[in-house]
Amino acid sequence: MTALHKQVEKHESHAEVDLNPVYAREKSCEIPRFKLADHGVLPRTALQIVRDELILDGNARLNLATFVTTWMEPEADELMAECSQKNMIDKDEYPQTAELEKRCVNILGHLWHAPGGEATGCSTTGSSEACMLGGMALLWRWRARRKAAGQDIARPNLVMGTNVQVCWEKFCQYWDVEPKYVPLEPGQYHLDAERAVAACDENTIGVVVIVGSTMDGSYEPVAKVSSLLDKVQEQKGIDVPIHVDGASGGFVAPFLQPDLEWDFRVPRVASINTSGHKYGLVYPGVGWVIWRNERALPEDLIFRVNYLGGDMPTFALNFSRPGAQVAAQYYNFLRLGFSGYQQIQQACQDIAVHLSGEIAKMGPFELISEGRDLPVFAFKVKDNFKGFTVYDISDRLRMRGWQVPAYTFPENLQDMAVLRIVVRNGFSMDLANLLLDDIRTQLTALEHLRPNTDLPPEIQAQRQSFAH
Ligand SMILES: Cc1ncc(COP(=O)(O)O)c(C=O)c1O
Repeated sequence: MTALHKQVEKHESHAEVDLNPVYAREKSCEIPRFKLADHGVLPRTALQIVRDELILDGNARLNLATFVTTWMEPEADELMAECSQKNMIDKDEYPQTAELEKRCVNILGHLWHAPGGEATGCSTTGSSEACMLGGMALLWRWRARRKAAGQDIARPNLVMGTNVQVCWEKFCQYWDVEPKYVPLEPGQYHLDAERAVAACDENTIGVVVIVGSTMDGSYEPVAKVSSLLDKVQEQKGIDVPIHVDGASGGFVAPFLQPDLEWDFRVPRVASINTSGHKYGLVYPGVGWVIWRNERALPEDLIFRVNYLGGDMPTFALNFSRPGAQVAAQYYNFLRLGFSGYQQIQQACQDIAVHLSGEIAKMGPFELISEGRDLPVFAFKVKDNFKGFTVYDISDRLRMRGWQVPAYTFPENLQDMAVLRIVVRNGFSMDLANLLLDDIRTQLTALEHLRPNTDLPPEIQAQRQSFAH
């Protein structure tokens, strides 16, 4: 999440950048860190200063926390560098980038079984913006329906599991929609279809069903929610649409679970979002959202921008936005085709299942998921095991550079702390086996160490602060 930054105090320590006198001609000039210097420096000096600071960032390839792409082919890097100056919104200046965006929407619509000639969609900065747009379309449609029937529009609600990503909380807060959270239960780590549908009423703008829960990588039951909602419609006359949050699964399920009906094959699915920058295999930030048809996307949400003397319909929260990611998405579609995506996602899944299987055999751990939906799995320390916590393991793996986040589950399961591993393209079976060796080594080390339960509270708090 982007942090909100405070203006620093005037006399903050390290307020100036220290230049190495041998490498910088600007030895004598002052380079303040928090305000603009009176004069600039040479390009090489600036590059050196920024690069040096960034050494402190984690190694992206060892980051098993993120779902976001950390490796692309050199050809894709080249293409992105060539397109870095293109603004996605300048459809008139960059008509071919707009054309590539259109082709990507078509390719995804096809992959997700959208009815031919009817689906409509766009690129976004990521799934958060895409979810916001999907949610807005649900809200606008609900309001229009209620207004037309002369009914109250004061209290819209959205039904979803407590495991939703924070973007849905934001949506509800920003648009004044009541979030109706369906709690998780021990053994039930994602949305329960019956309870979700029981929470729906005439004020429900939609149900969010996640294909690839951020917490443990599992798929929520889209088809089951849909068929239960059909019954509600028959019995009570309430017609509740589904938005599928396929941030990760939108690029996994079509390749690994082609027979699973989670997409527009399910008639109640009105819209689907995905992150091109997760399993779409593009660097951050690109997302996609597609609506089943124009009826699912109210006309008054659409704005027109100038395009080749005519006007082009757009729906976005941003205006300017990089075009390079869209070009890179199209590059991936061309480069990989269906079989390429399938091979990559299958390789990730094989590694995830291998890792989870080996971790289960180690003794102290219990799997929450195995990586058989998304190539993502979570595991915890067994309830009766007292030697160490997941935070100890996470800390000790960090000493070798591995970033394996530890966090607690939401409301109702707050006492359940887990570790999660996201297997992405670029994380090989070799690296996975090295990780397993390191986990085993750290288990042995931890057996001989006292658990860190007496750490000061501020350090404990830092360890538990992983944000999805
Ligand atoms: C299920 C789900 N929805 C939405 C998001 C937000 O995606 P983005 O980072 O592309 O904005 C995430 C990110 O992890 C996610 O897992």
